[in-house]
Amino acid sequence: MSHTEDQTSSARPDAPAPLPTPENRLRRQLLKGFAGTLVVGAAAFFGWTRYLFPPRRHGLLLGPVALFAPGGPPTLLPDPFTAQYSVQSTGPGQFIVLSAVCTHQGCSVDWDKATGSFLCPCHQGRYDAHGRVLGGPPPRPLPALAHHVQGDMLYLNS
Ligand code: FES
Repeated sequence: MSHTEDQTSSARPDAPAPLPTPENRLRRQLLKGFAGTLVVGAAAFFGWTRYLFPPRRHGLLLGPVALFAPGGPPTLLPDPFTAQYSVQSTGPGQFIVLSAVCTHQGCSVDWDKATGSFLCPCHQGRYDAHGRVLGGPPPRPLPALAHHVQGDMLYLNS
């Protein structure tokens, strides 16, 4: 038998795998435990760094600036969770952003093209394009909302 035959005979593919010794089993269990601890530790570390250094936010995106034509009527933007916003462009880069929630009892106002004012359908409250009360029961103007332009997008301030 040559030296080459000895090497191939000990590495036969159909040879049964050696039984793990108690030391090997313990080593495998320790490695699995160590790997699990690493994964959990990394997840906790990245969770904390995200909490300590939150990503920078621009605020709520209202839409591309080009969506609001200067001098055009207010655009009502629904918010699926809490409110509704009105955005009106008064010139290049100039906007009036209002809450479109009536200050009387919280109904959403509509823009009435015929009168050029906001109309609340619930109790006929009226507001002008700047949100000032024109008539009806609303006790206060529509709140003006701080906003800014970032790039080509209009955002509510956060
Ligand atoms: S809720 Fe708008 S006028 Fe009453």
